[in-house]
Amino acid sequence: MEIWAHRGWSARYPENTMASFQAALELGVRGIELDVQLSKDGIPVVLHDDTVQRTTDGQGRVRDFTWSHLRQLDAGSWFHPRFSGETIPTLGEVLALVQTRGHLTHVNVELKATSVGAQDLVDAVWRTVHATDIASLVLFSSFDPNLLHALRRYSRRIRLALLTPAWNADAAHAAKEIAAQDIHLDAAHFCTAVLDDVRRNHHQALRVYTVNQPDAAVHLWRSGVSGIFTDCPDLMLETLVRQGQAELHTTPPHPASM
Ligand code: G3P
Ligand code: MG
Repeated sequence: MEIWAHRGWSARYPENTMASFQAALELGVRGIELDVQLSKDGIPVVLHDDTVQRTTDGQGRVRDFTWSHLRQLDAGSWFHPRFSGETIPTLGEVLALVQTRGHLTHVNVELKATSVGAQDLVDAVWRTVHATDIASLVLFSSFDPNLLHALRRYSRRIRLALLTPAWNADAAHAAKEIAAQDIHLDAAHFCTAVLDDVRRNHHQALRVYTVNQPDAAVHLWRSGVSGIFTDCPDLMLETLVRQGQAELHTTPPHPASM
């Protein structure tokens, strides 16, 4: 089962910062997940909320600030004073960091729904991703199927995941319309019937967010879920290794190897 670091290693570092992504990359996760919004001057920046106050020392809406203003905000002190040097990264900066890893880690770029400038966001994200040589490592996701639809118009081959709190007829219809390869589901709504239905609908992967409890991770692994998003990638990696070793020791040898 793939381990994806949700907003980077966000239990230990301020979410969606270079420190958080760097630390997650060093752990050897399958991928990092990040959230993208557009600045006033059209730069894709990595921030979860559409306002800056929860995770920086600023106030106001992301889309009302230029990148030169946003980059001056402190995006680390709210988490702990020792991260006071952290700033809001651009999408391009995070992709450049991943690129230095030599094609080992995937990136889930989550496009945040926006009431204005949706096409501008899609265009800017697309241009930024394709200015790198790691476009094939990028998985795009969104709760807003319209954003994914706009991305799909760019290419039939890019990998899209529909984010959905629950799996129902509307989600299944939207995922089909945009030819989403994958589904990203809220852990609260996971059950094996959902996994069966996602497979019946020919989707390739079901990943679940946000999983921070070892027992839940083991359950999802045993159920056959493709991946989880977690704030605690260290704990989840340890859990899977420990569980794998335990199962190895309790599984009787295959007759062919006796
Ligand atoms: O992509 C999984 C997860 O990030 C979706 O929810 O609100 O944390 O962006 P959120
Ligand atoms: Mg997200």
